[in-house]
Amino acid sequence: MVSRVIPVDPFDLVVIGGTGDLARRKILPALYRRFCAGQVPDDAQIIGAARTAMDDAGYRDFVGAALDEFAGAAGCEDRARFLSIIGYVTLDVLGDAGWTELAGRLGQDRVQAFYFSVGPSLFGPIAERLQTYGMAGPDTRIVVEKPFGRDLTSARALNTDLARHFDEGQIYRIDHYLGKETVQNLMAIRFGNMLFEPLWNSQYVDHIQITVAETVGVEGRGEYYERAGAMRDMVQNHLMQLLCLIAMEPPSKFDPDAVRDEKLKVIRALDPIAPEDVVRGQYLADGDRPGFREHVGNAESTTESFIALKVRISNWRWAGTPIYLRTGKRLRARTSEIDVVFKDTPHSIFGPEAGRHRNILTIRLQPNEGIDLGVTIKEPGPGGMRLVDVPLDMTFAQALGPDAKDVPDAYERLIMDVVRGNQTLFMRGDEVEAAWAWTDPVIAGWEEAGTAPIPYDTGSAGPEESLALMHRDGRRWREIRA
Ligand code: NDP
Ligand code: BG6
Repeated sequence: MVSRVIPVDPFDLVVIGGTGDLARRKILPALYRRFCAGQVPDDAQIIGAARTAMDDAGYRDFVGAALDEFAGAAGCEDRARFLSIIGYVTLDVLGDAGWTELAGRLGQDRVQAFYFSVGPSLFGPIAERLQTYGMAGPDTRIVVEKPFGRDLTSARALNTDLARHFDEGQIYRIDHYLGKETVQNLMAIRFGNMLFEPLWNSQYVDHIQITVAETVGVEGRGEYYERAGAMRDMVQNHLMQLLCLIAMEPPSKFDPDAVRDEKLKVIRALDPIAPEDVVRGQYLADGDRPGFREHVGNAESTTESFIALKVRISNWRWAGTPIYLRTGKRLRARTSEIDVVFKDTPHSIFGPEAGRHRNILTIRLQPNEGIDLGVTIKEPGPGGMRLVDVPLDMTFAQALGPDAKDVPDAYERLIMDVVRGNQTLFMRGDEVEAAWAWTDPVIAGWEEAGTAPIPYDTGSAGPEESLALMHRDGRRWREIRA
């Protein structure tokens, strides 16, 4: 049911940065899995490009090793057939050698896409050379990775660089959270059911919590992370996208601009964040496991590995209903979920002894993807009308059966969408800029105040102060559990 394969047209996909970590861990395994699923035509071409000198055969060995390490159990009989569509061109994107060879390798009358799997400082030079060497036609597509800038100024500069050579309709800005099946499910749950929409506003919803908790630290990515921190690495993009999907108005149709217009309105309606509505944290060492400061190689680092925020949206639907966001590394469990906490009933016919009961709709994004609706029922047995909250719990794996395990990972979905020419799950330039315009003053706020992140223990729920952020409003975070 869920594994239905829709074949795509023949394509050439050039992975610039084809020898890098992202290519090895995500892009190449994703293409392999789609090939095994029968979605990639035999006459497609996947061409790696980077400075490391290699020929096609050398790159096929490189790709084979990457698949051994990262393609997991997925695979098909005909790995040789997949490797036969792989090629490689040696080039330095800052120089001129190699580009003519690359142009000569591309086929005619087929989709041509260039995946910029390199740091953002190379986006402009690549776009320029694609133009110079005749590869920036009106149907060419380019895919750019996050981080898309580190603030509004740099994001604008990147947009301007790309716009010199490509129209907005050709630019696919990746946020891999949008490729997650359960994140797309947010739209299906909200706009495919009549049940929720009438209640989806500040009249009925007390508050919303969005939690993206990880157990990993920043091992191996210390240099990048020290410059980014949780706000830039997770909130400006992934959590912002979740917030948009949960809060936006229904788009008139499921098409790229209709959806992205509505997301943009949410971002533009976000209030500035007051300093007392932000809690930042940094994980401590745990036995032999180094702490954050050791990982980033800076004993005085003031970068956060955890952040909790209280966000307000100033529009008719959400005025008065705060949204609490939190994300962090080295927390108690790896879990991402959204909790929509409904208001109390206006009057309890059962009297004060029945206690306070609220409906909570939990959308679990990972792991154990599913939804859970907390409802209040009578506690069984004699002894009066006592109430108890029970879950109406559904994991998608249970509901959809064995097919649920075949759900493609985010990169599979997103790369195939590039080939199909569907931008719905990619960020538009104005959306990214609006997200930075909201993020920048929050970061400037703590930089000006000189506040340092609060240490927290590995395996905790972050600093105690993040609990206080909720307690002072008479609310509390849902437990972080696997
Ligand atoms: P790596 O440093 O592992 O890889 C960079 C790639 O770029 C290598 O293939 C390198 O190959 C190539 N490269 C660097 N300079 C040049 C140049 N002048 N000309 C041609 N090729 C060049 O980075 P990642 O793969 O980790 O990341 C790539 C991008 O994706 C970054 O923007 C990163 O932020 C983003 N990203 C990465 C994620 C990940 O999980 N790794 C997750 C999300 C985003 P060579 O040295 O052979 O030239
Ligand atoms: C990346 C961040 O974009 O997303 C990482 O740079 C983070 O720091 C990762 O660990 C989380 O992604 P996922 O798919 O594991 O939830």
